[in-house]
Parts: sequence; C-alpha cells; structure tokens
Amino acid sequence: MTTNQLWGGRFKKPLDESAVRLSYSLESDKRLVFYDLDVNKAHAKALYKAKYLSRDEYKKLTECLDMLAIEFRDKPDSLYGDDEDIHTCIERLVTDRCGDLGKKLHTGKSRNDQVITDTRLYTKDSITSIREELQILIDVLVELAKRYEDVIFPGFTHFQPAQPVLFSHHMLAYVEKFFRDLDRFDAAFKSADVCALGSGALAGNNYNLDRQEMAKSLGFSAITANSMDAVSDRDFIADTLHAGSVCMTHLSRFCEELIIFSSPLVGLLEIGDDFTTGSSLMPQKKNPDVAELIRGKTGRVHGHWVALQTTLKGLPLAYNRDLQEDKVYLFDTVDNISVCLTCFHKMIAGITLNEDAIEAALKKGYGVATDFADYLVEKGVPFREAHDITGAVVLIAIEEGKQLHELSLDKLKTLHPLIDADVFHYITYQAAVSAKSIEGGTAPSSVKKQISKINRRITWKKH
Ligand code: ARG
Repeated sequence: MTTNQLWGGRFKKPLDESAVRLSYSLESDKRLVFYDLDVNKAHAKALYKAKYLSRDEYKKLTECLDMLAIEFRDKPDSLYGDDEDIHTCIERLVTDRCGDLGKKLHTGKSRNDQVITDTRLYTKDSITSIREELQILIDVLVELAKRYEDVIFPGFTHFQPAQPVLFSHHMLAYVEKFFRDLDRFDAAFKSADVCALGSGALAGNNYNLDRQEMAKSLGFSAITANSMDAVSDRDFIADTLHAGSVCMTHLSRFCEELIIFSSPLVGLLEIGDDFTTGSSLMPQKKNPDVAELIRGKTGRVHGHWVALQTTLKGLPLAYNRDLQEDKVYLFDTVDNISVCLTCFHKMIAGITLNEDAIEAALKKGYGVATDFADYLVEKGVPFREAHDITGAVVLIAIEEGKQLHELSLDKLKTLHPLIDADVFHYITYQAAVSAKSIEGGTAPSSVKKQISKINRRITWKKH
C-alpha cells in the first residue's frame, strides 16, 4: 500500500488495493508533468506576492521546481513513484527536497483547480500543433490541385458517375473542410485559454492571490469567473473533441475515396509504396492500410466525444472524481489526430493520378448528359422537357452501346428539331467543365479564382 497520498488524517484504514488500481491515474496524467511544474511555480509566486512565503522560501521552491523540470526531462523514470497522480508525485518530490517548506506549496490550491489548469495548458499546446498539421495539409492539397490543375475527373453523387469536374476542384473541396476544422480548433483553443487557478477545491481561496498575475505568467488570456464552474467545467475538452471528431470525419471520407479510387478495380490513382502495405499471403497485393487505419481511428475519436458527454451528463457541481476520465479521452484523441494528420498529408503528397484510367472512367456513366439538357435549354427548351428528351437520348446510347457524341445527328434530330451539329461541341468533357464558370463552380477559370482566394486565406508561412 502506498503512503504517497495527500490525505489520510481522518482514515483508519488505507485504501484497498483494488480501489488503488481503479483510481490512480499517474500512468495517464504524467504527461502533464511540465504543466504541473509551471502551475506550481505560478502559484508559489502568488503565495510569495501575497506574503505567505518569504523571499527565501519562494526562491528555494522555484529552484526546486526548475531542477525537477530538468530531471523530468533527463531521467523521468527515477522520479515517478507509487503516486496517486502527477500532482501528488510533484508535491512528494518537493517535500522530499525542501522539507516542511514543500508542505506549504499546496496553500490555497486544490488538485481540482490545478488539474484543470494543467489540462487547459496541455490542450492549448496540443491544438497549436494540430493546427500546424492542418495547415501543412492545406498546403499539400493546394499543391496537388495545382499539379493536376487541368485534369478532368469523374464527379459522383450516390457514388454513381454524375458530372465531370476538375480534379483540382475535388481537392479544393477538402481544403474548405480543413479550413473549417482550423476555425473549430481555434474556437476550442479560445475556450481552453482561461485560467482556473485560484478556484481552490470549489469555493475559491482565502489568500487573496493575484489571479490575473497567475494567469498572465502561465500565458492565459483570461481568468475563470466562477470557482464552481471552473472546477466542474470540461466544455473546452468537449470543444476540442468535437473539433477533432469533425476533422477525423473529413480525413475518413477522404481516405474512403483513396481506398476506392486506388483499388485495381477502379485504378484512378495510386498511393505511394511508403503508405501502403503488402499481404503476408498474396504477393500481388498493395493494401491501403494507412488510409484504412485513419478511417478506423475515426470511430475511436468519435467515441471519446460521446464518452465525455456521457461522463458529464449526470454530474452535480462541482468537482467529481468521474472527471478524471476526461484526460483519457483527450490524450487519446490528441495522439490519434496528430499521427493521422501527419500520415495523411504525407500520404496525399505522394499520390499519383492514372490519367488513362481517369479518361476511361469518364466515358462510363454519361457524365455529360446534363450538359446535353443544358444545350437544349440554351436553345429555348424548358429544362424539364430538356431533361426528358436527354433521358431518351441516353436510352438510345445505352441500347447502341455508344457515347452521346457518337450518336448520329439525324437520330438526335428525331428527338427534338432544335438539336443541331453544335451540340457535339457542347457535350465534350472540356466544354462541360468550362461551362461551370459560376463562382464556386468547377470551370478552370473558377478554380483559378478559388486558388487565388485560398492563397489569400493562407496566413501562415508555407510549410
Ligand atoms: N487526478 C485527479 C483528476 O484528474 C486530480 C484531482 C483530484 N481531486 C480530488 N478531489 N480527488 O481529476
């Protein structure tokens, strides 16, 4: 039974070993170690300023915390013990080294305000690096759009060939999604950027500590307004998990496309060898495992968001130990999103298009049928009528096993007298794409504008 605990005066028996296993969280929350040291330093400074520590005491505590930071960096394993959590661990170490002075460090501070302040700091840093990965991904997609700027690609609805689009347009569609992810993470960052220190266990503290100064020294933009809210609030984690869930959904949808498009049955593109794997049995296989794993991990990240909401939904104010679970969801989400984003942008940077297969695919599914109808509209035929006539044209083409442009003009004229030879210029894939020159459409002119607008939205230095 461990003795490294911060309470015990009113207990006759130690905590049962099974309860220790249930409740101890050091293995998980040790990743907060450097934040916890910083929070302790900010708190020690506030205690000194409020005259609860002498100058010498403050100096000694700060030196001890700084030394611990170095040791945790260089030889962490020798420092972790049989501790309940990271806060307990650090308090034990400080007390071992500073004697009774170490016992003063907890004056006016509870693990409840401490853990959430640590977690806010961790979340801010994690979001900063996730946002950087997202920025790299946007850069890569814009590059890809430029590399294949004029390639015409089948566009799908219901995964049936629908209308031809530029491949670049397809890539830029995802750029929009990832820009929104950046915004969502930014909003989550703002909700994390508030300092809870000074809230105590739930009611605040008696020591008139300068909360603004503590927040400032830890790099927070604001302080929490209500101590009971501060120790019970996990909204910023929910916001981060939500931003992460949506982002993973985007990655997963893209991965689904990569998996389908790279299958030899479809063959529109190829994923690089460095992001595919072989089969232990079938020598010919090149499997898109990385894309599949990203798609797979999406379920896990979604699960964490739901798990957090479920953990929170029955909790009365203020702190409840259930809240300790929050970090399991947060840490696993951050780890998975980070590795998925890195793999994803590297994998995407290395895909190659199979332009012959793309051309062959375009010929399947009558992707220019709508443009045939649009041609009739230009000639003055009401769209619904034009739609019907074109349906009949497609039926003939299917029966004759031909493309629309391979049908004879005479045959077409039997369906509507206004159909003329100029129809054949109208229903090429190039013409179909170029005609979508509306803002946000797939015409080369529109896509060029999209790219220049995106370049103006890229506020970061290209990676
Ligand atoms: N390990 C705890 C957590 O993560 C720290 C706070 C413990 N507070 C308490 N009142 N038992 O939530």
